[in-house]
Amino acid sequence: MRIVLLFGLLAAVLAGCQEGPASADKAAARPDGARLYTQHCAACHGDEGDGGVGVPLNLPDFQYGVSDRFLKETIRHGRPGRVMPAFPTLSDAEVDALVRHLRTWAPGQPLTPTDETIEGDPRRGKALYDKHCVSCHGAQGEGGEGTGVTFSRPRDLPIIAPALNNSGFLAAASDKLIKAALMNGREGTPMPSFRKQGLSEQQIDDIVSYVRSFEQQPDPTAVGSADDEPLTISRESPHSVEETVAAVKRAAVGRNFRIIRTQTLEDGFFPEAEQNPDQVIVHFCNFDFLNRALAIDPRVGLFLPCRVTVAKHEGKVEVTAINPKRLAYLFNNAELNRLCEEMAQTYNAIIDEATF
Ligand code: HEC
Ligand code: HEC
Repeated sequence: MRIVLLFGLLAAVLAGCQEGPASADKAAARPDGARLYTQHCAACHGDEGDGGVGVPLNLPDFQYGVSDRFLKETIRHGRPGRVMPAFPTLSDAEVDALVRHLRTWAPGQPLTPTDETIEGDPRRGKALYDKHCVSCHGAQGEGGEGTGVTFSRPRDLPIIAPALNNSGFLAAASDKLIKAALMNGREGTPMPSFRKQGLSEQQIDDIVSYVRSFEQQPDPTAVGSADDEPLTISRESPHSVEETVAAVKRAAVGRNFRIIRTQTLEDGFFPEAEQNPDQVIVHFCNFDFLNRALAIDPRVGLFLPCRVTVAKHEGKVEVTAINPKRLAYLFNNAELNRLCEEMAQTYNAIIDEATF
């Protein structure tokens, strides 16, 4: 069940990277927003927009507090480094259809888009921000740790605060939208109404100006390019397959991992006697690391527990692991990048030691 969910998520991520249907088909039929939503969004935001890895999209305060333009721009830009992917290859008609579908959850009058600037004092805004916002949105507006709604995060904070210093958010959100979020809050989420918390409208305008000023700072969550990262970490071993497998296990245990199981690559596909003994996978895990990783992004379940393959091919013994840094790019999650960096170092150290 869990595996199915995770593969659904991976499919969603991969779909985000792919071209849509050929443009001839696009022109022919009016795009179906519900179908597009199921295809591209539901795995993260839930079938009915009630949230999951992504924040909920069906709550009335959200629906009335954001404009159609914000929704379109958010779909186009995504939130670089924050899990929410960009969808640059959808046609305008497809994005419109998606927005119409999101609006079926709360028909009514959404925020009208405007470019009007809200005048406030960003210096006073910063002081207020430091006092009222940092605990959830982070000292630099980098957002809460983790993603969306569920899984292993603390129960008293069921929805993780989005990043406000994010280029995708700032490009999509008007001043008026930020102000509406502060005035009304988002009922059903931890985001409070600061009007009800006793701030004056002027103070709220000051905070809006400060949030807007994040635009002048470099985007710390921007993710680089996957092209520089090889798909796998790989070395040739001078030892036999058996010796190398034993050395991989020793190296993993020496770094506080527990060996979960060792199997041939063909295990489950052929009867034991017919499996090639020269192709072996070692699975290992460190539960502290696993829990930390799952709290940041449940999709790491796709490539954890750790596995290293030892295989003999044309007389050479190769030791190989998937390069976690390459996977991190796929997931558009800056926090996960740091963790994947750590994991890549561990793989390199284990493989170096085992092939020494
Ligand atoms: C208790 C935690 C908490 C506090 C304190 C808090 N927020 Fe939020 N904020 C959230 C959450 C959670 C959301 C996402 C709500 C949703 O899913 O619609 C949010 C949403 C927002 C949004 C809309 C972002 C978007 O992507 O649509 C803005 C803007 C915002 N907060 C600004 C602030 C500012 C500025 C302050 C301080 C004055 C603040 N928040 C205080 C938790 C918090
Ligand atoms: C891989 C998971 C994932 C997918 C796929 C995804 N989203 Fe998101 N989305 C997120 C997360 C996580 C956030 C919160 C951003 C943050 O934490 O800074 C988000 C934020 C948003 C927001 C802004 C919400 C707010 O409070 O301002 C909108 C709108 C949105 N997504 C719409 C969509 C639509 C429409 C699709 C499909 C075309 C989609 N998303 C696909 C994970 C995802």
